[in-house]
Amino acid sequence: MSTLSSLAAAFRQTSYPVGGHGRRNIQILKEALDGLDGKLESDIYGTGESIESFQAEMAAYLGKEKAVFFPSGTMAQQIALRIWCDEKGSRKVAYHPLSHLEIHEEDGLKELHQIESILLGEKDRLIRLDEIIELKDDIACLLIELPQREIGGDLPLFEELVAISAHCRAKGIMLHLDGARLYEVLPYYQKTAAELCTLFDSVYISFYKGIGGIAGAILAGDEAFTAKSKVWKRRYGGDLISLYPYYLSASYYFKQREPKMGQYFEEAVELAVLFNSCQHVTTLPRVPVTNMFHVHIAMPKEKLEPILLELYAETSVGLIHYLRESSEGICSFEISIGDAFAQIPKDRLKLTFERLAAVLREG
Ligand SMILES: Cc1ncc(COP(=O)(O)O)c(C=O)c1O
Repeated sequence: MSTLSSLAAAFRQTSYPVGGHGRRNIQILKEALDGLDGKLESDIYGTGESIESFQAEMAAYLGKEKAVFFPSGTMAQQIALRIWCDEKGSRKVAYHPLSHLEIHEEDGLKELHQIESILLGEKDRLIRLDEIIELKDDIACLLIELPQREIGGDLPLFEELVAISAHCRAKGIMLHLDGARLYEVLPYYQKTAAELCTLFDSVYISFYKGIGGIAGAILAGDEAFTAKSKVWKRRYGGDLISLYPYYLSASYYFKQREPKMGQYFEEAVELAVLFNSCQHVTTLPRVPVTNMFHVHIAMPKEKLEPILLELYAETSVGLIHYLRESSEGICSFEISIGDAFAQIPKDRLKLTFERLAAVLREG
């Protein structure tokens, strides 16, 4: 039996969650496979028409020579950095202090590859070009995450990225893109994925965040890089005999949702305005640059939680299922807009924020 917090349980009862694409249940896979011919051949250890055509489609989308499907981004990115370290003869890479590799992967890079990570910049802001230029260490690769998830999905200006890329090329530093949420940044930059990816030597994308699939990742780059990544995929045990539940669902939801990223972005901007109109509430960034943002509410958890429980019961609009509390008694959470937001009747959304604003005003 699963144990849900009271907030998570109340959130589940609501009819209109504001974030995401809906419940993560097995209907996601059932729907994706529903229209497919049961005689479609399975992939076998990374080969076969269906996986190869999906990889070719993703390589073209990203403007790279080749693309390889991986069960996870964690695996794909550690491998990418290892390949670049071998190629450059250096055991150092650099990335943001709140990179997924630094805070969510149990030191995989260090433990498995003896790769040292240089943390660039500060936790609460993006890496700056001058910090890259001033870097004294001889790094093999710089990893840039777009958007920078842990600071609300913030993004550098496109011109800054161009300058970072030019600097890395001039210095022989490989540039890797953590594009777990790559599609989500395209409406802001007004670029195609391929236009953005020309700035990078290797790219990883995910299929279960904005795309809402089950799991899985693509790692893309030139022919020599991706050939090496396949060897490492095998060493990691990532060469499952069949990965089709992942890439077939990835393909299905990619087609459905990649074209909707502009809509999700606009809706995130609209929702952030509603949050910011409430006292004690600020969003990070104040005006979102993707479909995601963080919400900070200056109120301790034990006070805010009952307010949300009452709000959910009254409006059936679910704002969030968890609260993180900082030492200063400020609660925060992350919102990523998907298909669910458009389902909320506008008057109900308005009512929810009127009620929230009223109770927060009373404090
Ligand atoms: C920015 C970023 N990079 C990498 C990953 C790793 O992806 P996976 O869960 O497929 O290993 C994640 C997952 O949340 C992520 O948010």
